[in-house]
Amino acid sequence: MSLQANRPLPDSYRLGELTVEKVLSSGGFSIVYLMRDDHWGPHVVKEFLPAGIAMRTVGETVEILEGKQGLFARGLRSFMEEAAALAKVDHPNVVRVEDFFRANGTAYMVMRHVRGRSLQFQIHAQRARLDDAFLRSFFLRLLHGLREVHLRRLLHLDIKPANILVGADGQPLLLDFGAVRSTLDHAAPQAKTVLTEGFAAPEQHAGDQPLGPWSDIYAVGATLYSCMAGHPPPSARQRLQEDRLVPASERFRGRFPADLLATVDWCLELDPLRRPQSVYALQRALVDGTGVPAEPLGHLRRRPFSFLRWLKGLRGLVSSGITAMTTLAQRPAVVPLPPVSEPPPHEIKPTRRQ
Ligand SMILES: Nc1ncnc2c1ncn2[C@@H]1O[C@H](COP(=O)(O)OP(=O)(O)OP(=O)(O)O)[C@@H](O)[C@H]1O
Ligand SMILES: [Mg+2]
Repeated sequence: MSLQANRPLPDSYRLGELTVEKVLSSGGFSIVYLMRDDHWGPHVVKEFLPAGIAMRTVGETVEILEGKQGLFARGLRSFMEEAAALAKVDHPNVVRVEDFFRANGTAYMVMRHVRGRSLQFQIHAQRARLDDAFLRSFFLRLLHGLREVHLRRLLHLDIKPANILVGADGQPLLLDFGAVRSTLDHAAPQAKTVLTEGFAAPEQHAGDQPLGPWSDIYAVGATLYSCMAGHPPPSARQRLQEDRLVPASERFRGRFPADLLATVDWCLELDPLRRPQSVYALQRALVDGTGVPAEPLGHLRRRPFSFLRWLKGLRGLVSSGITAMTTLAQRPAVVPLPPVSEPPPHEIKPTRRQ
């Protein structure tokens, strides 16, 4: 695929009452522009342009590649449905979708422009500022927004520092929902963005377990971990093979309060059932550690060597080894449990349309 395939609209191009000022980013699924509305000033406009399925060579119209009509139509429908769902979310911590429409053979989502820097930038440039007080208040506000999204029966599925804006007022803003991508991922390898390693939940990699609020919660945990470490935890794909994650509780002991570290570890459990099941549960944990299990990621923790414990362990292993293995083998498939005070998870679905 040549670079030309994703040729953006030229500067000063008029799209109704919007004028292209510059391209903000160009990914595998869309081009994001900064445009100026004649009446309302700067806006961010996302153009649906999935690589390997559609391309723009000459003029402004998007051409669908041969044999990809069905796929393009599905992606476009998903893009529009997601825009329609997001347009109903009116929350200060979720990007505001003001309009969406079809033009140039594709579709556009018009979002309110917010001045700020990505959390990714903050992690690289000003990590020292990301202390306990900042993390708690920033993530609590972000989770308010995410909760609103889940209440609308949407999942984000691509939470990571690059998709979180730190507004000029310090407020977090959740950007760039990934559900459209997951619609196409299954059927369009050319357009497939590799799931964001380190942030995507294990069930997003495996594809055989239900996605739910717990999947976004894994990504929130990974984002918190990144704020502390300066880089994401090992990818869930890799962790499923061999889990080399050093729990936050060990790695950052003494640098952050124990309850905050345990909350991060709780989110990073590989088993979806062992994580907080709802944003509300995570919010409570973030406030003061309420509900956090005693030793999340217990299987990864290194404890100081004790001969007595070693002897006990050996005896226990001999006597109950076979029983334990049988129990593990009979472990039921993961079935999400309804959270206590949130809408039942079965009502919350990604915008994925299969
Ligand atoms: N509402 C907004 N206000 C200000 N800047 C924004 C806004 N939305 C997006 N941006 C900027 O544009 C960049 C790209 O946006 P976004 O993450 O939505 O698209 P993307 O990652 O290129 O999309 P995709 O992965 O779907 O192709 C962001 O990192 C951010 O810098
Ligand atoms: Mg993005």
